[in-house]
Amino acid sequence: MSTINYSEKIPNNVNLAEDRTLQRALEQWQPSFINWWDDVGPVGSTDSEVYLRTAVSVDPQGWAQFGHVKMRDYRWGVFLNPGSADRDVHFGDHKGEKVWQDVPGEHRANLRRIIVTQGDTEPASVEQQRHLGLTAPSMYDLRNLFQINVEEGRHLWAMVYLLQKHFGRDGREEAGALLERRSGDENNPRILGAFNEATPDWLAFFMFTYFTDRDGKFQLAALAESAFDPLARTTKFMLTEEAHHMFVGESGVSRVIQRTAQAINTLKTDDPATLRGAGVIDLETLQRYVNFHYSVTIDLFGADQSSNAATFYSSGLKGRYEEGKRDDDHVLKGQTYKVLEVVGGQLVEKEVPMLNALNEVLRDDFIKDSMAGVGRWNKVLEKAGLPHRLTVPHKAFHRNIGALSQVKVSPDGRVVAEAEWATNKDKWLPSREDFAFVASLMGRVVEPGQFANWIAPPNMGINKQPVDFEYVRFN
Ligand SMILES: [Fe+2]
Ligand SMILES: [Fe+2]
Repeated sequence: MSTINYSEKIPNNVNLAEDRTLQRALEQWQPSFINWWDDVGPVGSTDSEVYLRTAVSVDPQGWAQFGHVKMRDYRWGVFLNPGSADRDVHFGDHKGEKVWQDVPGEHRANLRRIIVTQGDTEPASVEQQRHLGLTAPSMYDLRNLFQINVEEGRHLWAMVYLLQKHFGRDGREEAGALLERRSGDENNPRILGAFNEATPDWLAFFMFTYFTDRDGKFQLAALAESAFDPLARTTKFMLTEEAHHMFVGESGVSRVIQRTAQAINTLKTDDPATLRGAGVIDLETLQRYVNFHYSVTIDLFGADQSSNAATFYSSGLKGRYEEGKRDDDHVLKGQTYKVLEVVGGQLVEKEVPMLNALNEVLRDDFIKDSMAGVGRWNKVLEKAGLPHRLTVPHKAFHRNIGALSQVKVSPDGRVVAEAEWATNKDKWLPSREDFAFVASLMGRVVEPGQFANWIAPPNMGINKQPVDFEYVRFN
């Protein structure tokens, strides 16, 4: 059951051949997907053969298949984790009932919305990253970018499968629209804000894959708890791929820090201008990138108080992160949670019903998880004997969603007047000069084993290959 059949036009482990209607619908969607990939997928990659990992089964060991393939020929398909037939709903009002194999009528609209919103982020990130191959800092990094791109494509397939299988005509229309919206397009943008921001350079890419793919991890983990079993099983499999995306981000930033620390020690100065002159990224600029990507990403969790979040939970559509490991009643009625509110120009904590605050609960889980990685980045500085540390900004900094969007807050959590914000904005967020400087470092370095000056090589290669392995064959 869990072995994937690659001899079919659409590789799958869901017995697609037995559902002719669905198979036809997906086979009709497939050429549109390829057209979308050709139009807005990775620029200039058509003839390259990339050392990619392909899933051969959904077992943990089913991951080990690596080989050079053209991305356009990547076997995108439909893979679900095996189900356990007797799984019970374990939170919300339906707690204790059997999970659903089909969409209950009363939850149809909400489930569709959840799946479409998740599905929309997948092609969006491919669009955001499409130019990066032209300025890769190494062949190793280029390969990692392309691996992420094909997997985001597969995540789109995963959501389209659910739409086409369970939502009839509406689902087919939504599947089409997922290929029509475009990241950053004024007339037909992607659904969520962060997925319309540009990913202009590789530092932004590493920050995005560290922070924003981690939002993906938390959203998928919450959906993996769903009472709608096909959604739970699909997202569980997607999570295994997400781990690699976050690894690329974390190790990428770590290597940038390593290189900068080395330059600080060699040049015996941490002066940003001197470091920039030496062609490395100063820690102040790195901090501003952290501030930007962190704040834009925590907005993705939605408003701090939301009746939708309560509905999604109570009706069993979306759980909390690691729902099963929590020792409360998993119904949450009468429980409270602290959110931040602005009163008289000050941030104050306020207790609200937990059900309405579940976006905030997930955001706080995300914050804990992302701070752990920032701590690992600081170990690199510590090891290099440097006193500098990176931090994540205050939760209320630079927010565009919820109660906190009404105030300007400094990275250390003070509510500030417009004038103070304006004076300091370029110290707190990447300025035009920062972007121009980072852009000036972005040249294409793609000879095997060569690395751009601003980033250290990784400790090891992919799949135990050497660092100077030919990860991409340009044809
Ligand atoms: Fe994804
Ligand atoms: Fe991802």
